[in-house]
Amino acid sequence: MAKHAITLIEGDGIGHEVIRAARTVLEGIQVTGELEFSWLEAHAGWELFERTGNSIPDETLEAVRATEATLFGAATSPSAKVPGFRGAIRHMRRALDLYANVRPAVHHPVPGSRAGVNLVIVRENTEGLYVEQERTYMNGEMAIADTVITRRASQRIGEYAVKLASSRQRKTLHIAHKANVLPMTQGLFLNTARKAATLFPEVSTRDIIIDNCAMQLVTRPEQFDVIVTTNLFGDIISDLTAGLVGGLGIAASANIGDEHAIFESVHGSAPDIAGQGIANPTATILAAVLMLRHIGEAATADRLERAVDTALEHGPRTRDLGGSSSTSEFASTILEAYRGA
Ligand code: NAI
Ligand code: MG
Repeated sequence: MAKHAITLIEGDGIGHEVIRAARTVLEGIQVTGELEFSWLEAHAGWELFERTGNSIPDETLEAVRATEATLFGAATSPSAKVPGFRGAIRHMRRALDLYANVRPAVHHPVPGSRAGVNLVIVRENTEGLYVEQERTYMNGEMAIADTVITRRASQRIGEYAVKLASSRQRKTLHIAHKANVLPMTQGLFLNTARKAATLFPEVSTRDIIIDNCAMQLVTRPEQFDVIVTTNLFGDIISDLTAGLVGGLGIAASANIGDEHAIFESVHGSAPDIAGQGIANPTATILAAVLMLRHIGEAATADRLERAVDTALEHGPRTRDLGGSSSTSEFASTILEAYRGA
């Protein structure tokens, strides 16, 4: 029996609810299958910051380093600057060098999901505008944020994306950029990613300007296979692509580095519904599917993904998808579908 040590970080808001639901499902799978999990619970986020003054303690980073993979709920970031506060997931991405943020958007049997969509956004995860270096001048009348693009980060994200594209059926890569307006920063990204893409000549690679990409994602999303882009653009268009296939309740993502990996939903801590037990746990459970593939449990991952689709198809679904199921009820529906499969 394969044993896997996994770190669980609930974070804030609905992060608690969706991680507990995902854990129930994974524990249910372990009963029926050939694999076994041991859990390490670690803490991060705004609620922890309010209690302790530290949003991301060293022990949490140690737990992520010490285990095979991490499943993360969601963490709150206040919109105003708070001295000493660090955004938990953004800090972990940089501190652990999780340079690839991989966000699949695949059609699922839910209202509003567009048939034929099967794409992956590969978002550079360590630099761009997310270096979080901002300053104000003239008594707050002007503000400047730095954007950092390096050849090294552009090269490795380009390589990651083209390698992923080469493993997929359609073998198509779009490099989405804004080099026409920002030839130094975006130009460096574009040219480096283009060169990286030549490593896999069987992949057909095209450039696309990010705003046109956004429009075409709405009008003809089925043409896209893998899209690689810089940090902020990837953040925005991956919420758009989540919207193409049923919304934030079901969109999952992976933060991948050479040494470590953290799997999470695309959504945040959803303060508007937190604590009510109505959050959709699907995104986090699909993040667990990505995690299972990453740790070499592809067959279990495929079976769990089919179970999620069965549960989404037959319901009862959670409220965001027009149903009335609670978080834990829907997790049980998925588990029953898994056992029945
Ligand atoms: P959000 O994703 O938390 O919520 C947006 C909307 O979608 C809300 O109406 C929410 O109720 C709904 N929603 C999200 N996930 C859902 C789920 N699983 N089931 C049902 N409905 C769901 O984004 P928002 O409101 O912009 O941000 C809230 C907080 O989360 C902020 O502090 C933000 O910084 C943080 N955040 C954290 C992320 C992370 O930890 N990776 C990602 C995005 C936001
Ligand atoms: Mg986002």
